[in-house]
Parts: sequence; C-alpha cells; structure tokens
Amino acid sequence: MKILVTGGLGYIGSHTVVALSEAGYEVVIVDNLSNTRIEVLDGIESIIGRRPTFYELDLRNELQVVELFDKEPSIEGVIHFAASKAVGESVENPLLYYENNLSAFIYLLKQLAVKPKSHLIFSSSCTVYGQADVMPITEKAPIKVAESPYGNTKQIGEEILKDTVKVSSGLSAIALRYFNPIGAHASAKIGELPLGVPQNLVPFITQTAAGLRKELAVFGDDYPTPDGTCIRDYIHVVDLAEAHVAALTRLVKGASSSDYEVFNLGTGKGSSVLEVIESFEKVSGSKLPYRIAGRREGDVIQAFADTEKANRVLGWKSKYSLDDALASAWAWERKLRNLD
Ligand code: NAD
Ligand code: WQD
Repeated sequence: MKILVTGGLGYIGSHTVVALSEAGYEVVIVDNLSNTRIEVLDGIESIIGRRPTFYELDLRNELQVVELFDKEPSIEGVIHFAASKAVGESVENPLLYYENNLSAFIYLLKQLAVKPKSHLIFSSSCTVYGQADVMPITEKAPIKVAESPYGNTKQIGEEILKDTVKVSSGLSAIALRYFNPIGAHASAKIGELPLGVPQNLVPFITQTAAGLRKELAVFGDDYPTPDGTCIRDYIHVVDLAEAHVAALTRLVKGASSSDYEVFNLGTGKGSSVLEVIESFEKVSGSKLPYRIAGRREGDVIQAFADTEKANRVLGWKSKYSLDDALASAWAWERKLRNLD
C-alpha cells in the first residue's frame, strides 16, 4: 500500500519512513526542505536499501498538492508530519505558523476527504495538555488554553480533523500526541538536524558535549519536583516511528473503534533535567558542562504520559530506555561532527 509521508525528510518523519518501509509499506515522501537537508534521503536509502519516491514541494501551494494527488492516485494513507515546530518563533511570527501548520493541512484533507477510502495520521503534541493537573496524563485530560501559536495549531489541527472525519464517508484518522522525542536511528545515518542554536534539551546537550556550545543552561532548579528541575517523558524516536506503523496498520485493517481516535505516545516515565544530564554523562563517559539558570517562560513543571491506551489498543509499547536514547543521540552527534 502506498503511503504519503509529508515532512518525511524531517526528524520524526525520516525515522518513520524507515519503519514503514521495513513493515512493507511503499512510501512517497514530500518535503520542502525548510527544516532539513536532501542528504537525509541518502541516509534513508542506505538504511532501507532503496530510494523512496521524493517530491520537493511546499504544501502551502494548493495547486502543487492537487498535482501530487493527480500524479499519485493510489495514495491511500497519509502521515502528516510537515509543520513548523519552534515554540518561540511561533510567538514572534504567528501567521507563519497558522499558515504552515493549518492551511497546508486543509489542502491535504481536501484531497483525502473525496477519496472512497483513505487514512490519515496527524502529528499532535503533549503541548495540547498544557500543565495537566494529574500525572500521568491520559487522553481524557482537558485541553488547556494554548501557551503559544504553535500549541494552538495542534489544538486547532485536531479539531479540523475531527470535524472533517465526521462528514467524509471514507476517511479514518488518528491523532498522535507525542511527548518528547529524542535519539536517533541505531545506524547513526539519520537523526535530529536542528538549525541554529537548539531550543530542545537533548540536541543542546549533545552539541555542548561535542564542543559547539560552551555549557548547557538548566532552566530552573526551584520547581516543585524531587530535584527542583522540570520533568518530561523522553521517548526514543525509533519507538515513536514504530507507533506510527501500528496506528496506520490499525486504520488500514479497519480495526478502529471510531473514525477519529487519539493516542498519547510516550514511555510513561518522567525524567528530570538533572536525570537526563546524569544519564548522558553515564553513556558518553564524559562530564557535561552546565549551570543552573533562571526558569524559561512557558515551561510546564511536569508532563509524562499515561500510555495504557496506546499499549492496549495499538499493541505498541516503547522498548528503549533513556540511556539507550541518549547513547543514540550522542552517536549521531559524533557522526555529524566527525568526532570518531
Ligand atoms: P522537523 O522540522 O524535523 O520535520 C518537519 C519536516 O516538514 C521538515 O523536514 C520540513 O522541511 C518539512 N516541512 C515543513 N513545512 C513544510 C511545507 N509547508 N511543505 C512541505 N514540507 C514542509 O520536525 P519533527 O520534529 O520531525 O516534527 C514532525 C511533526 O511532529 C511536526 O508536526 C511537529 O509539530 C510534531 N511534533 C514534534 C515534536 C518534537 O519535539 N520534535 C513533538 C510533538 C509534535
Ligand atoms: C525539555 C526540558 C526545559 C533546553 C518542547 C515544546 C513542545 C514539544 C516538545 C512539539 C524543559 C529544559 C531545555 C535547555 C533546559 N514540541 N531545558 N535547557 O519544553 O518539553 O517541549 O518540545 O510539539 O511543544 O514546547 O522540550 O526539549 O525544550 O525542554 O534546561 O537549553 O529541558 O526547561 O524542562 P519541552 P525541551
């Protein structure tokens, strides 16, 4: 079966392309290269042993989206990763985020909704929960007012999808709410490629260890948590990729209990910033230079997933530990910087 992966040369998309191919799906990739490099396609090819079909196009151009579906009429499923994802940038340039994350999504849905049968997986985020009142966070936790335009695009994206599925007879969909994806493929041929100064913890750590950054600033150690630093649910990107295969296969088999379902994707385990540093130091065998800095605006104190629904319904469970994920992130950074 032919599956379109939008943003398939991005971080999570590239790992999912590999997992889909290994599961026997034929993959078509679309990416405008706004947040990645074409070399990622070489990395994918060298892992799976063939080069997936790739279209360099911008999904904000509806005409190009229409032409894509004309050229590839047998696409039955779409995994939609393509979006902009920098929270701070979304505050500075909200229209860029509303346009890229929502108008492109609408153009895709317009194509899918008229097919007799189609399946869609939407990349949502744990950010929709804001600071949840109860840990671990279940899918039933209330959606809080979004902290940023980026977070808002995920909330609105879910609503658009839910409304569209209701009125289209052939479309079934799953929204996946990722917690904090980290790590890289075991081959170190694909991984995260942050542009500029990384905003996320793990690429900042690996770049600091590689000597690109002087030290990590730990954003706050006076939170009401056991060691005072924030707690997150860090999930290996390869585990996340496997969850997409499980979700897609559920849709393809017609096994869903309704045409729109939502799942949390995390490990179920919360780790503090200091625990991440400690784990990184263990797997890398080196001390990480860091200092305690002030809190970062907008950070939630803690967020970790209740994964019971994904485990039970998707038959999927994360396999990798925090140590595994950090070791793979470090191997990828070393490969990128030719450190071995
Ligand atoms: P990424 O930036 O690495 O990948 C997104 C890809 O989409 C990039 O390769 C980019 O070039 C492409 N793209 C962006 N706009 C496009 C457009 N208009 N047309 C065609 N291609 C376009 O990001 P990622 O970390 O792989 O995230 C994938 C998805 O998962 C995003 O929707 C993101 O919001 C969501 N998500 C990410 C995280 C995270 O922490 N990484 C957490 C939760 C949700
Ligand atoms: C993790 C922890 C920081 C950098 C973001 C988005 C969210 C989602 C995932 C997409 C926090 C601390 C970080 C640093 C630090 N993305 N930190 N020093 O904030 O959980 O979520 O990515 O949907 O929407 O907001 O991830 O990796 O930025 O931070 O101390 O230099 O590391 O304060 O506690 P976050 P993160």
